[in-house]
Amino acid sequence: MAAATTITITGAGGQIGYALLYRIAAGDMLGADRSVRLRLLEIPQGMRAAEGAALELQDCAFPLLDDVEVTDDADVAFDGANIALLVGARPRGPGMERADLLAANAGIFGPQGAAIARGAASDIRVVAVGNPANTNALIAAASATGVPADRFSALTRLDHNRAIGQLAARLGARPDAVRNVAIWGNHSATQFPDISHATVDGIPLIDALSGTLGGEAAAHAWLDDEFIPRVAKRGAEIIDVRGSSSVASAANAAIEHVRDEQLGTAGGWTSAAVVSHGEYGVPEGLVCSFPVVSDGSGYRIVDDLPLDARARERFGASVAELVAERDAVRNLGLL
Ligand code: NAD
Ligand code: LMR
Repeated sequence: MAAATTITITGAGGQIGYALLYRIAAGDMLGADRSVRLRLLEIPQGMRAAEGAALELQDCAFPLLDDVEVTDDADVAFDGANIALLVGARPRGPGMERADLLAANAGIFGPQGAAIARGAASDIRVVAVGNPANTNALIAAASATGVPADRFSALTRLDHNRAIGQLAARLGARPDAVRNVAIWGNHSATQFPDISHATVDGIPLIDALSGTLGGEAAAHAWLDDEFIPRVAKRGAEIIDVRGSSSVASAANAAIEHVRDEQLGTAGGWTSAAVVSHGEYGVPEGLVCSFPVVSDGSGYRIVDDLPLDARARERFGASVAELVAERDAVRNLGLL
């Protein structure tokens, strides 16, 4: 078996951390032939919860788990890391404005990016899960001097999976029959879940929907009035129904994001927020969700899809939000 892969998980004592750790250690992320070494980063208040999770990891006696270390020191946590999942973030509190939230999270993701630059392995790949995920990834990348920016990404796989879940349910299809859905833009309510290139069992998805709903006009009405808002606001729906934000589905999406990036996408593209090089007119350097593929060497944007005027307008609105987030962080002197 190859040398163990070192994986750093920040916020490991939190809800998503608890849902992630055991699946990673069981081999769900990197496969049954790669052993893992886990580095759990917490703030002092979260240390006991992370230490408890580490005790339980030991009690699982996972054959692939080489070692677990719990720390509140970012330099220790990222030392030699091959993969980092940045989950720990500052949630929005009462009376907090968006700028306050961006500033609080810049204070977390900036220093973590710098620690990654100081100590991570040369093949490090990082995914930001903590919100606002796209801009947190941008901040971490900007602070990681010497690490190529394209090693940083943010999670929109959850939105991608949510879109597939809604479509499969509406069509009475298996989720794995639905291919080539795309999430464009920000991991926020402005995102654009797009089915214009999607298929179900090889049939254009719009045709299948038109058949189910009684015509193309009805299909478009369902997409505009139900599907897009439902997917874009699913995070809020989960908070409303559960009483707290998504956990198992977020952890599952993070595992699938890393797995596909590291092992390669199969059967079409997926969605991830990655650094723009100007694709589709998105300003260079923004961390924006696109359809992406990977051959195991990192995500590459599928850059040749036709987008009609309505799609461009929806995508443009979400990109404008990302630009505003970037500018707010810049104006605070944090970028
Ligand atoms: P949680 O509050 O249960 O856990 C967060 C943990 O992070 C806490 O244990 C906290 O102590 C820790 N933490 C805070 N600051 C830290 C720092 N500087 N270094 C290390 N650890 C730190 O929250 P959760 O439910 O696990 O969610 C985590 C984040 O993920 C939230 O920002 C949430 O909004 C976000 N989220 C993103 C997606 C997505 O699809 N991108 C989906 C769901 C949730
Ligand atoms: C989610 O999508 O479930 C999370 O990002 C939580 C949220 O605030 O929407």
